[in-house]
Amino acid sequence: MNSNGLRDQIAGVGVAELAREYGTPLYAYDAEMIRRRCRDLAAWDTVRFAQKACSNLAVLDLIRRAGVLVDAVSTGEIHRALAAGYTAHADRAADPTGLPPAHPIVYTADIFDRESLDAVAKLGIHVNCGSSDMLEQLAERVPGASVTLRVNPGFGHGHSQKTNTGGEGSKHGIWHEEIPDVLRRAEWAGLCVTGLHMHIGSGTDLAHLAEVAGALERVALEIGRSLTTISAGGGLPVPYKPGEVHADLSGYFTLWDATRRKLEQTFGHRIRLEIEPGRYLTAESGFLVTEVRAIKKQGGRKYTLVDAGFNTLARPVLYGAYHPMSLCPADDAAAQQLEDVAVGGPLCESGDIFTQTDGGFVATRALPRAQVGDYLVIEIAGAYGFVMASNYNSKPLPAEVLLDGGKARLVRKRQTPEDLVRGETV
Ligand code: LLP
Repeated sequence: MNSNGLRDQIAGVGVAELAREYGTPLYAYDAEMIRRRCRDLAAWDTVRFAQKACSNLAVLDLIRRAGVLVDAVSTGEIHRALAAGYTAHADRAADPTGLPPAHPIVYTADIFDRESLDAVAKLGIHVNCGSSDMLEQLAERVPGASVTLRVNPGFGHGHSQKTNTGGEGSKHGIWHEEIPDVLRRAEWAGLCVTGLHMHIGSGTDLAHLAEVAGALERVALEIGRSLTTISAGGGLPVPYKPGEVHADLSGYFTLWDATRRKLEQTFGHRIRLEIEPGRYLTAESGFLVTEVRAIKKQGGRKYTLVDAGFNTLARPVLYGAYHPMSLCPADDAAAQQLEDVAVGGPLCESGDIFTQTDGGFVATRALPRAQVGDYLVIEIAGAYGFVMASNYNSKPLPAEVLLDGGKARLVRKRQTPEDLVRGETV
């Protein structure tokens, strides 16, 4: 995007060309940006992608090739991971550094539905348990299994109350004060606790995340020497708004590395250090390309209406989330002047506004003056974008393309009207 809010290319491919070839709305991902974000985290022993952020098979395959492992929160996500080339089991060969082997796929949840319990038992997938009921259900099916405990440290933080996963207000994880009892239950069930995981929320900041290291260390000492892996969870922030900057990741790693080293000294063996980002790896790679279809004035406010709605990108209506926007005019000469507009979509619902603040208040954005037929690009949409899209108003899910080396590749077809009614009967 240039400083006037205009953009004619994404990762070296023309916006208008993409729109003409694949139609709009369209999600486009910049492969090189994903690779770069994977490289940023190379200091960690394991980077585990929280695929819930963006689980297209081509993205998972790219991330796997970048040496990143994967988290799965459902049978569907396990299926995706396998389809993208991940193996279910760890290779038991010792790591040359003496680190314990990493599990390629970890199932993380607070419950097993019957399908996911069957899948992890059948495939031998490592489980990160967020409730003690899960421990007992797993022990029945996989006697002697090794497990990770997801612990709620009693505090949390997120960009919205809806993405805060710690404290009494959150259903997630095993409550930190329950650990002694849960360890007794795990031992009784014959399970071995090898992993400890804390994830306090999504879209938080490093100051809050840094508090987790101390809390995890305390719980690790309660678990004791069976522990071989600790996970800092996800939640790494991404700059969405003008003026926001990337967080100091090397300082964050140093803090966790020190925690890991202390535990290694206490236990007398190596500890694998994991991080589990979703947003950080894919948010900035993603662009939602839409077409401007109507422009209208409601009293003093001007609305630009595009062909994507909260069925395509739900973050603004759910959290009042801010996404940068840019315009690609159909006619090169147009659109030099900025004007304040509200941007909305096609749905029959007033909340279908991309420029809204938390609580559903319609705001405006200074954007280049648009005309019907121009393309509006909603940016930093690669995390929790397509994956949260729906068929509301019987709208088809959009296509997804991966941009690499100046070329676009279709990695998911737009849904058809037939897809919308598949499986239904009269
Ligand atoms: N690990 C666990 C156990 C999680 O629950 C999550 C996110 C992550 C890792 C990755 O968090 P991240 O690094 O992406 O912040 N739909 C919301 C975000 C919900 C996140 C749910 N869990 C949004 O659009 O902001």
